[in-house]
Amino acid sequence: MSGYDINKIVSLCKRRGFVFQGSDIYGGLANSWDYGPFGVELKNNVKRAWWRSVVYDRNDIFGMDAAIIMHPKVWEASGHASGFIDKYRDCPSCKKRLRVDDPRLNAKRPNLCPECGQDKLPLTDARDFNLMLKTTLGAVELQGVETYMRPETAQGIFVNFTNIIDSKHPKLPFGIAQIGKAFRNEITPGNFIFRTREFEQMEIEYFTDPKDADDVYDKWVEERFGWYLGLGVDKDSLRKRKHEKDELAHYAKACSDIEYKFPFGWSELEGIANRGDFDLKQHEKFSGKDMRYFDAKANKRFYPYVVEPSGGVDRSVLAFLVDAYREEKVNDDLRVVLKLHNDLAPTKIAVLPLLKKRGDIVEVANKIAVDLKKHFVTVYDDTAAIGKLYRRQDEVGTPYCVTVDVESMEDRKVTVRERDTMSQERIGIDSLTEYFVGRLT
Ligand code: GAP
Repeated sequence: MSGYDINKIVSLCKRRGFVFQGSDIYGGLANSWDYGPFGVELKNNVKRAWWRSVVYDRNDIFGMDAAIIMHPKVWEASGHASGFIDKYRDCPSCKKRLRVDDPRLNAKRPNLCPECGQDKLPLTDARDFNLMLKTTLGAVELQGVETYMRPETAQGIFVNFTNIIDSKHPKLPFGIAQIGKAFRNEITPGNFIFRTREFEQMEIEYFTDPKDADDVYDKWVEERFGWYLGLGVDKDSLRKRKHEKDELAHYAKACSDIEYKFPFGWSELEGIANRGDFDLKQHEKFSGKDMRYFDAKANKRFYPYVVEPSGGVDRSVLAFLVDAYREEKVNDDLRVVLKLHNDLAPTKIAVLPLLKKRGDIVEVANKIAVDLKKHFVTVYDDTAAIGKLYRRQDEVGTPYCVTVDVESMEDRKVTVRERDTMSQERIGIDSLTEYFVGRLT
């Protein structure tokens, strides 16, 4: 469900500690965001769910973690140093820079600036802008080696292709997966954590015999689409979009985007591309190393094709938040609730004592929390009345609350409240772990 204003999500994120403005006490740095206590849990859960589905649940994909700063030649080979370009136009009035593919630009009124609304002065002609973020390595600035912060994690995988073959001896088809930071000097970052200059990617390079590449590509599009649905994303807010020939990057033979219906419109969550043998050949050309795969059975060497599912962690986090956000009327009250999938919820269980003045209730509640913490991310909270505590947990998406009351002291049972339905049932304290194992794992 993406029918709510993005500002509601931004406000919840700040209020409850998911995402804060970066460098806030210095007035903030535009388009830089810091993940708070709940945000980091949600983000880690997204990455964990991805890693589980593409590495642990399969036998054909290996994980790795490459350096962010790579040899400058990598970016010559990949084409990024010369060709990682976005086109932009400037407004002569408000001086704002606009991507030429900005959907707000109007073909019928080509000089209309969507930022300031003027259309008297023509926007500048399209110019090239390289998105690579430069940095200098070495203690003496002017003598240092100039290189880049990686704009994608993919190249870290390609340059380790032969290392993985030599250490794991995989047979085709096989893949290499990586999660990590990437940096782009975006012309127009924006829409909260959707487009930033520093972000995280989850990428797989899946190597296959060229003759199988079309089928492998089709399967990955379905597989990745299913991953978002499996984590509860509303099917009407998710779609696939195949790139037209003129949209394809120079190396790509085919590409499909998985798009989510954000409050600001349908936008890319992940791209799945058939990159052919472009990358391995380029790295062979620039490094002088043989990047072919040796097929022992056929006794021949060849360049595999690569299919690349490449998703954004921050964009996924935003999509999961938007999708889970609900405002519901409960007895004339407004309940804000994040109906996150259990695997993604930052906290799984909250233990709440009904009366914090009663030492025996507090003691039992604390003991329950300590026991549950051994198995699930659990919090104990006694800082407000029960109604307020429930609302607080609803807003951060905690699937279950356990309330210890006066009766619990007699019957050794507690009330378990389920977030989405708000239904409650009495469960024996000694069976709580088993109860939650059945629901949360
Ligand atoms: N290796 C291929 C590649 O990097 P991409 O379409 O440029 O392809 C892949 O990026 C994914 O990375 C996107 O689908 C998006 O989720 C994420 N991404 C790209 N640029 C981003 C940015 N500036 N801010 C946040 N996420 C971004």
